[in-house]
Amino acid sequence: MKSTKRICFLGKGGIGKSVITANISAALAKQGYKVLQVGNDISLSSTLLLRGQVEVTPALEEYRKKYTIKIEEYIIKSPAGVYCLELGSLEPGVGCMARGIHIIDEMLESQGAIENLGLDYILYDISGDIPCTGFILPMRDGVMQKCIVMTNSSFPALVTANSMIAGIVRASKHKILPIGLLVNFADVYPARPQLTAYAEAIHLEEIAYLDYFQKIEHSELAGKTVLAAYPDSAATEMMMMLAKKIIEMKAAYNVPKPLERKELLKWLSQWKQRSLAQKSGIIGIGDSSNI
Ligand SMILES: Nc1ncnc2c1ncn2[C@@H]1O[C@H](COP(=O)(O)OP(=O)(O)O)[C@@H](O)[C@H]1O
Ligand SMILES: [Mg+2]
Repeated sequence: MKSTKRICFLGKGGIGKSVITANISAALAKQGYKVLQVGNDISLSSTLLLRGQVEVTPALEEYRKKYTIKIEEYIIKSPAGVYCLELGSLEPGVGCMARGIHIIDEMLESQGAIENLGLDYILYDISGDIPCTGFILPMRDGVMQKCIVMTNSSFPALVTANSMIAGIVRASKHKILPIGLLVNFADVYPARPQLTAYAEAIHLEEIAYLDYFQKIEHSELAGKTVLAAYPDSAATEMMMMLAKKIIEMKAAYNVPKPLERKELLKWLSQWKQRSLAQKSGIIGIGDSSNI
């Protein structure tokens, strides 16, 4: 039997989780792996670029109505070969999404879907900004094997990423999961200097950068992955490299030490100083020295 790896993508809303996860799923499929992407957004948008116009029924919502479902009936195979599953969402204020993710994951296992589909990777694109206890359950209970925490060049995205890392570290006390920081829109100042320094400060060893690519934006507007829309582009090559880097990511040697609130506030002021200095032309975009 194959050992299927679960990788979850976390981070603030709007920073590119769904688009990047879909592209990485497509890149892994192109590299010969069997991949399932699971989304939990209310808009069912996680797998949109993969499945195009094919409609999907949200599995968790159906489960809540019927109490028993056959999970494979909700999985769609995309033209690029990626399997897609949308969970749907909760009625605001009712229930716990993390528990839902856990229930569905158990179904994938117990109903034999993982084995039938021969899955190598399950990529969870988890939307939700606040890492409540429930949110962290799938990590504590060993459902996930790797976490990719995404951020961009804004301070609020870093605060969310920092909270997510704190939750993961707390949840996986006995066995620290490999955690990678993926900096999206890394070409927007001060993403690189600030987040490189942040990763060093909290002892996070794995960090990857992804710049803004017009072709990613355009392919998303056309409802496709960049691999499907522009197979020979630099953006596609970047996605292939990123997919490789993510699957090769190793368990951390050091346990990351996320920032406390006081330290975060120091970072906020540094962030503002850097941004102001750059906007007023005092320093260039490439300058990574401390201010
Ligand atoms: N590296 C990138 N280059 C260009 N556009 C990007 C990039 N990453 C994300 N985007 C765009 O950002 C927007 C938000 O992405 P989305 O995946 O919906 O965010 P999230 O799932 O985190 O809420 C989309 O329009 C997407 O095309
Ligand atoms: Mg999303």
